[in-house]
Amino acid sequence: PFLPVILAGGSGERFWPLSRKHRPKQFLTLDETGRSLLQATSDRLSVLSGSAEQVMVVTGGEYRTQVLEQLPEMPVENLIVEPVARDTAPAVLYAALRVAQEAPDAVMGVFPADHRITDPGAFGQVVRRAISVAHTTGQLVTLGITPTFAATGYGYIQRGELLLDGELPAYRVDRFTEKPDAQTARTLVADGRYTWNSGMFIWRVEAILAAFRQHQPEMYAQLSEAFRQGRRAQGIRTTFPELRKISIDYAILEKSDQVVVIPAEFGWDDLGDWNALERLLKTEGQNVTVGRHVGLDTGGAILYTTRGDDLIATIGLEDVVIVRTDEVTLVVRKDRTQDIKKVVQQLKAHP
Ligand code: GDD
Ligand code: MG
Repeated sequence: PFLPVILAGGSGERFWPLSRKHRPKQFLTLDETGRSLLQATSDRLSVLSGSAEQVMVVTGGEYRTQVLEQLPEMPVENLIVEPVARDTAPAVLYAALRVAQEAPDAVMGVFPADHRITDPGAFGQVVRRAISVAHTTGQLVTLGITPTFAATGYGYIQRGELLLDGELPAYRVDRFTEKPDAQTARTLVADGRYTWNSGMFIWRVEAILAAFRQHQPEMYAQLSEAFRQGRRAQGIRTTFPELRKISIDYAILEKSDQVVVIPAEFGWDDLGDWNALERLLKTEGQNVTVGRHVGLDTGGAILYTTRGDDLIATIGLEDVVIVRTDEVTLVVRKDRTQDIKKVVQQLKAHP
């Protein structure tokens, strides 16, 4: 069987203040579909795997209620709750242990909850192909996106020799580089052999468990031990905070030589930070406004208010983002939106 797992435990800091600790961006509806990013992800995967009952979600305890509210058709036992967030490697390992318990021969899929995909048909085709490649080769399959700029917020995948030919060929991966600095990113994009890591993974559950055993032996031992114990819930609660905090990209993908990439196009967009709104609302070059705005000599601005009656007025501004919610006003230069994270961290330290 194919068992997709949605990662929905991030805190969406780069979309602050729209995304708040108690309501991060995967739970927000950002376009006109009326579905949140999490709901849209679940919709796509339900179609692919045949029903909503196959889709699992791994998230933090504080988001449990929101997930269940947003996905009423998902059986409660498909929800995997981490006691504390330790980034995506522990989340994936925990989910893999659960999947293996249900179906040791399963192909498991990992899907972030906060991406937009504009061509679900093509997405379905690519994932089906990835399932077949993962099944027949036992490799860790990634989906590679053609890079369009020197992004520093993504993983980069260097394509090696052809492994499986076909309409959607699969290549061995020579190198996986997570979140390079700006200079390295420029080199990688110019190189031509690199694709972005979409953050979606397809693998046999036994293959990812073997990779954890090999590359994260301590984490594997800690969590699988807690998982095996009689009083599992309690074991997981005490073990999770002790796990290394690390993403799956650094923990496994950068280390393994069993990684394969399928270059893929399906209108993928990681709604990574405020600049994504421009692509979402298709207004490149003009101002993006959600709410009322009057502007004099204002260009390339993103102006967003969640308050119906608000008016934002600007004069002589270029390339800024202004966001107003009930509690917060944010003003940031467009080229600094990745740093919003740092402000949020400062606020956490000194609320
Ligand atoms: N359950 C759980 N627990 N989920 C989490 C946690 C956690 O501790 N931390 C993050 N997530 C979820 C997020 O909600 C998101 O859906 C997904 O995992 C990915 O986490 P991000 O924090 O958004 O990762 P990223 O965007 O910095 O980088 C990843 O995605 C890029 C593409 O969007 C990497 O895989 C990059 O290599 C990739 O290019
Ligand atoms: Mg992301």
